[in-house]
Amino acid sequence: MANRLGGARKPVALVTGAAGLIGRYLLATASRWAPEWDVRGLTRQDVDLTDEASVSRIWQEHQPAAVIHCAAISRPAVCEQDPELARRVNVEATVLLASLADKIPFLFLSSDQVFDGRQGWYVETDRINPVNYYGETKAEAEQAVLANPHHTVIRLALTAGTSQTGDRSFVEDMRRSAVRDHRLTLFTDEFRSPIPAGVAARAVWELIVCERPGLYHLSGTERLSRLDIGKALATWYPELSSGLQPGSVAEYRGPQRPPDLSMRCEKIQRLLSFPLTGFRHWIASRPRDGADLWDYAMTDLNP
Ligand SMILES: NC(=O)c1ccc[n+]([C@@H]2O[C@H](COP(=O)([O-])OP(=O)(O)OC[C@H]3O[C@@H](n4cnc5c(N)ncnc54)[C@H](OP(=O)(O)O)[C@@H]3O)[C@@H](O)[C@H]2O)c1
Repeated sequence: MANRLGGARKPVALVTGAAGLIGRYLLATASRWAPEWDVRGLTRQDVDLTDEASVSRIWQEHQPAAVIHCAAISRPAVCEQDPELARRVNVEATVLLASLADKIPFLFLSSDQVFDGRQGWYVETDRINPVNYYGETKAEAEQAVLANPHHTVIRLALTAGTSQTGDRSFVEDMRRSAVRDHRLTLFTDEFRSPIPAGVAARAVWELIVCERPGLYHLSGTERLSRLDIGKALATWYPELSSGLQPGSVAEYRGPQRPPDLSMRCEKIQRLLSFPLTGFRHWIASRPRDGADLWDYAMTDLNP
């Protein structure tokens, strides 16, 4: 049977950052949510995206019909420590890939951190104003990507999941700190609208399949303090339950943090086949049963 390219084989979708938190969920859920694509993951071992010649070689090798670009320097603290690296990966590599993908769908994962967090409940038309270098690189890359009308930017919220290396998600950070310090102080005055990685992956695939380019917000529908997020996760991870302590962002020393990055997702919701709900609902809708967030995503988050 002919595919969308008129050939007999499935079109190739490349996923960069395939060993990272979200790339790994995208790869693992592809056969379920994007069976019409031949999905291939690229890790840093396959290609250094800051090396233009290697990127060109990989491009020729795979000849993709779509790209989901997840590779990034994704930790704000690392971006502050090494702004040159952050710019090369988050901006320049994105611009390079987007230019190679000139005529095909290209989906770039940006972040809620393009906002300053003074307002909350952001929509796609709100003014961006990043307060840290990570947010600045994301904002700059967004502009370059959206210059092409075939391309898509998803501003993703704080994402809950588990990674192969155990050190990629905020959930893993929380669990590690709780075990090490026997307590975990979480801010009551910093707000996010988190989403499980499995849900985010499904939404990304649906957006690729429906071919509706543009700018979208993707998050849970609930605005939660860091402490409330920790309490929700404690029903899954008992090591969090005993040591949770309220704290204030005023006590934090480090790169500036946006206080309220809750986002509204009506625009993407209109295209999705399943409802985005609140983080606590996602977590509470299934008993943990000894499973992990990874198993959870691989079963049925949103039947
Ligand atoms: N996780 C979240 O809560 C969250 C929230 C909002 C937005 N986002 C955005 O979503 C995207 C995916 O995030 P994530 O959490 O999956 O990030 P992640 O776990 O840090 O994964 C990023 C991946 O990019 C790879 N990479 C970095 N530099 C590279 C280079 N020069 N060449 C090739 N690969 C390179 C990394 O390789 P190594 O494994 O070798 O380090 C890593 O596997 C990012 O754009 C991030 O900014 C994430």
